[in-house]
Formats: sequence, C-alpha cells, structure tokens
Amino acid sequence: MAAWKVACAAAGAVTLQVPAGVYYMGPAQFHGPCKASSLTFLLQASKHAPTDLSRFGNDWIEFGWVKGLIVAGQNGAAFDGQGAASWPFNKCPIRKDCKVLPTSVLFVNNENTVVKDISSVNSKFFHFALLQNKNTQMINLRINAPGNSPNTDGVHIERCSGVTIVDTKISTGDDCISIGQGNDNIDIQRVTCGPGHGMSVGSLGRYVGEGDVTRVHVKDMTFDGTMNGVRIKTWENSPTKSLAAHMVFESLVMKDVQNPVIIDQKYCPYYNCEHKYVSGVTIKNVTFKNIKGTSSLPVAVLLRCGMPCLGVVLQDLDLKFKGAGTTSSKCENAKAKYVGYMYPKPCV
Ligand SMILES: *[C@@H]1O[C@H](CO)[C@@H](O)[C@H](O)[C@H]1NC(C)=O
Repeated sequence: MAAWKVACAAAGAVTLQVPAGVYYMGPAQFHGPCKASSLTFLLQASKHAPTDLSRFGNDWIEFGWVKGLIVAGQNGAAFDGQGAASWPFNKCPIRKDCKVLPTSVLFVNNENTVVKDISSVNSKFFHFALLQNKNTQMINLRINAPGNSPNTDGVHIERCSGVTIVDTKISTGDDCISIGQGNDNIDIQRVTCGPGHGMSVGSLGRYVGEGDVTRVHVKDMTFDGTMNGVRIKTWENSPTKSLAAHMVFESLVMKDVQNPVIIDQKYCPYYNCEHKYVSGVTIKNVTFKNIKGTSSLPVAVLLRCGMPCLGVVLQDLDLKFKGAGTTSSKCENAKAKYVGYMYPKPCV
C-alpha cells in the first residue's frame, strides 16, 4: 500500500512492480485519483486471498478512481481467490436474499484501463467485476474455477461504457462473461468459454432504476460443454422499464452446449416462480449470425420473449443434436426474421 501511495503521487508514466513470489494478501484498495499519466501495476507474482470470510467486505482487490491504469501480468501472474473454502457458504444459487461473497478483483470508476496477461483462479464469487468504468480493455486473461463452483462468473460488467475483452479463456462455474444493466458499447472477441453457464446479457430487470444495455458485439467465441451459449435473460415483474438493444452475436462455435441460443424473458433460477407478469425489459435489434456446432439438449434455439421482441434476426445457424436425433426451435412472442441456412428449422 505504501508503494501504491508513492506510485499514485508520482507524475508521468509510472510502474509499480510486484516481483516474483507468492504473496498472501488481505483485502486491498488501490484508489486514485493519481497524478500519473499512466500507472502500470506490473504483477510478476501470485497473490493469494485469505480464506477467513470475516476479513472481507464486497471484494478482495479493488482498483478505483484511476485514469490510465494498466494491470499487467508476467511470469504466469495470478490472483488466487482460494475460493474452495467459502463456496459451501454461498446460498445465492438457491436463495434470492443471500449474502454475496467477495469478488476477487473489482474495477470501479476508472477511465482508460488495460488489464492484460493475467490469470485469476478460484475466486470466492466473481473473478473480475467492472463497475462504472469508461473504456476498459481486457486482453489475454486466463480465468479458472471448477464447473461446480457457485457464482464464479469470469467477468461481470455493470454500468460501463466501452469494454473490450479479447483473446481470453474462461473456465468457471457460472457465466463466463455477464453483461449486467446499464452498459453501452461492449465488444467481445476470440474468447473461449467452458465449463460454465456461457455468455450472458443479464440478468436484467430485477432492481429499481436499472439502465439500458446497448451495443453489444460478440464475435468468434467457442463454447465447450457449457449450459448456455449466448443468452439474454430478463426477470419478470421488473420494477423499472429498460431496453436491451443493438446486439450482434456472430461466428460462434458450440460444442455440446445445452442451450446454444436463448432469449429468456421469464428468467427465474428459483423454484417458486409464478410467471404471472411480463418482463419490463424490451429486447430490440438483436442478430444471431453464423452459429454452428452441437446442442446437448433438443431445443437448440429458444426465443422466449415477454413483450414481443423487436427485430430479432437469425442468420445462418447450423446446430445439430449431439447424438442421434434432431434439434428444434421454440418461440414465444419472438417475431424473429430468418435469413440463410437454418437448422434447427425456424419456429412456425
Ligand atoms: C442494430 O444494431 C446494430 C449493432 O449495434 C447497429 O449497427 C444498427 O445501427 C442497429 N439498427 C437499428 C435500426 O437501430
């Protein structure tokens, strides 16, 4: 922390170097504003989180209020959340009013951030969370947790504008990337995902005052054995109306994915869902294009809209059943337009 203080107060292009080794580090907040024009946090080491949950607030490592921050790894640098000890205490997959465990690395209120060449393993909750940042690039990350670890989303994004995630491999127990409310201009390319729950926009429409999600571009992703491929999920009975719009999901490969293409506006992961409301999130102008591979469940395309979806386009889909048999599409209020080759056959 003393080194951060000095680095943050120095002018020009500054590098704070964490030399090789294994460091056991408690919760730490690396906050600006800083004087540096660019501040590189160069991690050449592994950092291990404590296992005692009573030491934590919302997160383990926090970078906040910095402009021009570069978090770069070398020598296989890693953040190790040591999550296995705390996963049994996470009740969020079964209870809505659960206590959330700490995220490994949170970026909050930064501008022009680069995160590159770093691993994150066994986070207690999310691996990385981006909250209210402007212009963030994540390049060449390796994110790892067991397929059955709860809520270990790879990258969760909320209220950000301008996020790029490229050349990254994510194996985890929840969403590889989750794009939450209030985001604009998200670009994801060359990311592999699996195991995990796939790439998700949402869940949206759960809380008061949620913002729109606009301009999402996902390209060249591979999904291997995931629960979902690309998914937009919104809750019913949303207290605030919002928009999920202007999205393109293209050139995706699915390998034995349960639900390769899915819009679910009746999202509810708990048992006691009434399904008596319509989601307040309007889905508009969404294209799924050039998506190929295998589905491990028979319904390869599920478009379950609440209010009719506006301008959903499916183009050149080829999603075969993983074994013997066929795949199908299922739709509610989808009004989709179909272009080019289409397997499974469109909904009638
Ligand atoms: C639909 O979304 C795409 C991708 O964001 C965008 O380029 C296009 O302008 C949008 N079309 C309309 C009619 O809004």
